[in-house]
Amino acid sequence: MYFAAISMVRGLLLLTLLLAWIAGNKASALLYSGTEAKLNRKARKLITWAVYLSLCSSGVLVGIILLMTNTDSVFWRDRLLIAPLLVIPMLMVWMAAYPRLRRIRQATMRKKDSPLDVRLLSRASQAALVAPYQLIALGSLTGMYWTFTTTVPFEMLNGMIPLVVLIVVGTVLWLSHVNRSARVSLTGSRPINRPWNRLMRRSAITLAVLALGSIPFYSGLQVSRLPDMIAMAEGPMDNGTGSTLAHHHSGTIAASASADAEPTQEVSVDSLTGPVEGTPDVSYTLTAEKKTVKLASGRTVEAWTYNGQIPGPELRMRQGQLVEIKLINKDIAEGVTLHWHGLDVPNAEDGVAGATQNAVMPGETYTYRFVAEQAGSFWYHSHQDSKEAVEKGLFGSLVVEPEGGLPPETKDIMVMTHIWEDRGVAIGDNDGIQHIAIKPGTPVRLRLTNTDDWVRQSYKLLGTKFQVAAIDGTDLHEPGDLENISLDLITGGRYDVTFIMPETPVTLSIDQGGKLGIVMSPDGNGDLPEHVPNMPVFDPTHYGTPAPTPFDANSHFDREFTMVLDNQLGFYNGKLTFNYTINGKVFPDTPMFMVSEGELVKTTIVNRGAVEHPMHLHGHHMLVLSRNGEAVTGSPWWTDTLDVAPGEVYEVAFMADNPGLWMDHCHNLAHAAVGMTMHLMYEGVTSPYTVGSATHNHPE
Ligand code: C2O
Ligand code: CU
Repeated sequence: MYFAAISMVRGLLLLTLLLAWIAGNKASALLYSGTEAKLNRKARKLITWAVYLSLCSSGVLVGIILLMTNTDSVFWRDRLLIAPLLVIPMLMVWMAAYPRLRRIRQATMRKKDSPLDVRLLSRASQAALVAPYQLIALGSLTGMYWTFTTTVPFEMLNGMIPLVVLIVVGTVLWLSHVNRSARVSLTGSRPINRPWNRLMRRSAITLAVLALGSIPFYSGLQVSRLPDMIAMAEGPMDNGTGSTLAHHHSGTIAASASADAEPTQEVSVDSLTGPVEGTPDVSYTLTAEKKTVKLASGRTVEAWTYNGQIPGPELRMRQGQLVEIKLINKDIAEGVTLHWHGLDVPNAEDGVAGATQNAVMPGETYTYRFVAEQAGSFWYHSHQDSKEAVEKGLFGSLVVEPEGGLPPETKDIMVMTHIWEDRGVAIGDNDGIQHIAIKPGTPVRLRLTNTDDWVRQSYKLLGTKFQVAAIDGTDLHEPGDLENISLDLITGGRYDVTFIMPETPVTLSIDQGGKLGIVMSPDGNGDLPEHVPNMPVFDPTHYGTPAPTPFDANSHFDREFTMVLDNQLGFYNGKLTFNYTINGKVFPDTPMFMVSEGELVKTTIVNRGAVEHPMHLHGHHMLVLSRNGEAVTGSPWWTDTLDVAPGEVYEVAFMADNPGLWMDHCHNLAHAAVGMTMHLMYEGVTSPYTVGSATHNHPE
């Protein structure tokens, strides 16, 4: 709804602009009509144009009303400003231009072939007749600028500059018409209007506008250039709102902690490690290297690999075990790291280049040590140049089995989908149909993981009832039976699906054409269905049954933050683009959400943009409280990668119990790579690491 309504507003604004532009030109050329008969006809046509314009701009207003009646006010508050920009000039058209057009029509009723006399010339050139049409064009242009650039929280400057420009340009326009009309009445003749003359005048105006506009344009471009070196632990802070702030610093954004804030002990991310001592229960060595790898079909991929395979080897461990993983970079010139997506490890083990460590360059090694505290499905990937690294293959699955292991005989199947460059989508390295023989009665667990960038993947399981047992590595409470439901994941998310193997085949289809998926059957034979029907999409908000949680929507929150996601026309690193913004900014201007250890934190995430954003917070699991004002009533739903669609508002909460500097970014890595990233920062934590072109560290 949101997307449709806002597109309607934008589309009709554009149409209004075009029509008003044409009508404005026609109005301005009225006095060149030649004969009374022609003037009569043109005046009539202008009245018709006024009707078109009224329809279009009413459409814009309807779009705004649809927004108001269907979405939260955060989606339309600022857009109300568009209404007067259209309504005022529209009223001027009907109250000033229309009566004048009618009088002209009456005066030229007899449709003579005689040329226009002074009286008619002066009437046809009146500012009150011509300017209103042109003001609609200016108004819709300003409205368009607003819908593409306004920031929430609203910034006065950004909103007011175009309004001031509009008023100045509108006044100049009006005065020039007054002036022209006066000259016409005085001399009794029209200003010469040879085509080249007009062309000259127009190019002069265009040049002047361009020259004036280029000053803010170029300064904007320059200011947006990324610095060579950015200290990750520094930047604009957002202290949120909440009770613990009363004796702390107030205001939502403070440049630095105020002097009277209680002294917090400084701790470097480097010291926030896992256990340094002790023999690991599990150890792995991962060597990053470039390699040409074969998919099951025989087609090859120029990949970046861990241990020469795509995806990297599966890492498996039990809850509570001490794990040691040694990373060796053989030849990835861009550098690598290892980030444990969804596993809440100590900060120094989080593997983000420039935040918790330096990128591991060719010939270097790095060792991670942590205790696997949560049981569930996770994955690991490089967090250096992560967009390119993940795309090319630097990722793999990470499974933490519960302390006592999985139910005996469980058939545990990893379903990691990925689109390989030029080769299309595959499950792991299998780009065709897999057949798996499973004895009837066997418990089956499918670990669905989508590793693609900005691709919604639909998994369709047919042939049995099933349960979604876990989301993002956390078990759901009493998940009910599902059937004919599409399981959709966007980048980074995981669903664990369970069922008991029946006597008959069960299929998991990834595409709709029967070419990619898994056939599970007692004898290992069978086919994928050729046509998978469309199905409703699984929605976790009312699935399963409630269970106690350490906090809930009624808890007292120590901090509350708002995170507004949007697309905005703006500058990024010396280019004019549509930025993917968080609270109106791109990194490094995005705020750091500041928390203290032990605080309960609530964040409201709003997507005002045109595309979905899977928001991923490192080091913590967020409990989803509500979506679009509707409480989550099923099983507690914990997430680390929350897909927020355009027009959606989520409230999530987490306990700040893992001190450090934690990335919080869109897992459409292409978005993160152009600045849709920020971090959660604990008071008193420092980081010696930096990112930027002068360093080796490029986490996104
Ligand atoms: Cu899966 Cu910050 O990453
Ligand atoms: Cu995004």
